[in-house]
Amino acid sequence: MAELIVALDVPTEGDALAMAARLGGIAGWLKIGMELFTACGPQLVRRLSDEGFRIFLDLKFYDIPNTVAGAVRSAVALNVDMLTIHCQGGERMCRAAMETAAQAARPPLVFGVTVLTSMASGEMPGISLAAEDFALNLACMAAGWGLNGVVCSAREARRIKLQKPGLLCLCPGIRPGGEAGDDQRRTMTPAAAIANGADYLVVGRPILKAPDPAQAARTILAEISQTA
Ligand code: C5P
Repeated sequence: MAELIVALDVPTEGDALAMAARLGGIAGWLKIGMELFTACGPQLVRRLSDEGFRIFLDLKFYDIPNTVAGAVRSAVALNVDMLTIHCQGGERMCRAAMETAAQAARPPLVFGVTVLTSMASGEMPGISLAAEDFALNLACMAAGWGLNGVVCSAREARRIKLQKPGLLCLCPGIRPGGEAGDDQRRTMTPAAAIANGADYLVVGRPILKAPDPAQAARTILAEISQTA
């Protein structure tokens, strides 16, 4: 069954711990991205991990192979369960990340970002392909490079799964009830995302900004189990 990951896109440690307290026992996964990590660093990653959450470190590494390998080694030392790199870093960068992750006692799942869910076709500099087609191409390459999965829109998850059934699809841009997508462009509801083959649903604002975040998370989890 697909799993829910709550994107903890908040600015301070206090906000993060307060939200984690509300979501404890409901959401198993928390995503720590660039906003929170830049503010609070590894200490907060360890703290939330010690509280029993599985941690997805979403820093989208994109650099030369040696630098990305070093970043993955640092993430492994934090015992994170999942991390992201950019597929557009290319084969040598992606393979360097995988080789480093594989040396860990408990290797994290490594996901390659294909095309950000905030991007529509025509918005990717220098890319004339439709966003869905470019994401599919990158996903097929990522599978060949040994990545565990890709970050993609649920809109392209079905085609990715058809071509690369073993590749995990982690899908942000989830909007329950088809509500407004904020800055996201390639969105889907939880049920539609699961029907398309998404393995992990990443949800931020629809939970963080809900009047009752715990209830919002429970509603999405109910939709996940009903669809499954
Ligand atoms: O608030 P919202 O549900 O749109 O948050 C989506 C989260 O997923 C954000 O933390 C964003 O950084 C992340 N993300 C994304 N698209 C990607 C990769 C990550 O929206 N391709």
